[in-house]
Amino acid sequence: MLHRTDKGRLSSLAWARFLARPPRRRGRFAGTALACLLAFSLPALAQQPQPAEQPPPEEVVTKEALIAEGHEIFNLVCHLCHSDQKGVNRIGPSLYGVVGRKVASVPGYPYSEAMRKFGQVWGRTWTPEELDHYLTDPQKWIPGVNMHYSGLKHRANRRAIIAYLSSLHD
Ligand code: HEC
Repeated sequence: MLHRTDKGRLSSLAWARFLARPPRRRGRFAGTALACLLAFSLPALAQQPQPAEQPPPEEVVTKEALIAEGHEIFNLVCHLCHSDQKGVNRIGPSLYGVVGRKVASVPGYPYSEAMRKFGQVWGRTWTPEELDHYLTDPQKWIPGVNMHYSGLKHRANRRAIIAYLSSLHD
């Protein structure tokens, strides 16, 4: 077996042989090494950090435009079961003044057990945040609720309908 110190001696022998080569051959070897080094470092040079991309300009929507969009959504989706008039209950309770109202608190409307519990036991109020959760997936937010509607999945639509509902007050 070759001893470690001998291995070391052998490698220094190889160096000695390399250095003993005629300078021209040494030069060719050094040239190849340099080419390899460049080949590896070039892609890295090409990946120089690019200047940061400009973020897209914020969509500017006026409050009025948002409310008008919400009104359209109301007519298309919610109107089937709800009225936006004060005191008018249909399949669902009136949504007039719903923002800031206690959950399940329209007098005379026959709420489901689940909805009544959500309002009375949990003491919940229809804040914009609560409406956002509820309208995303009504059955998931309040299991057992009687509103047979799968929900508004797009955040922008929920934002618009909540803006419209917020505008319905005395
Ligand atoms: C298929 C009919 C139907 C549709 C469509 C519908 N709802 Fe309802 N909604 C109901 C019913 C029924 C209830 C009462 C649920 C209960 O008692 O469990 C209700 C309850 C609610 C409540 C709770 C009100 C309260 O007094 O606590 C809100 C808020 C609500 N709906 C908002 C909406 C909005 C906004 C839309 C449109 C995006 C919508 N609903 C679409 C049937 C519907």
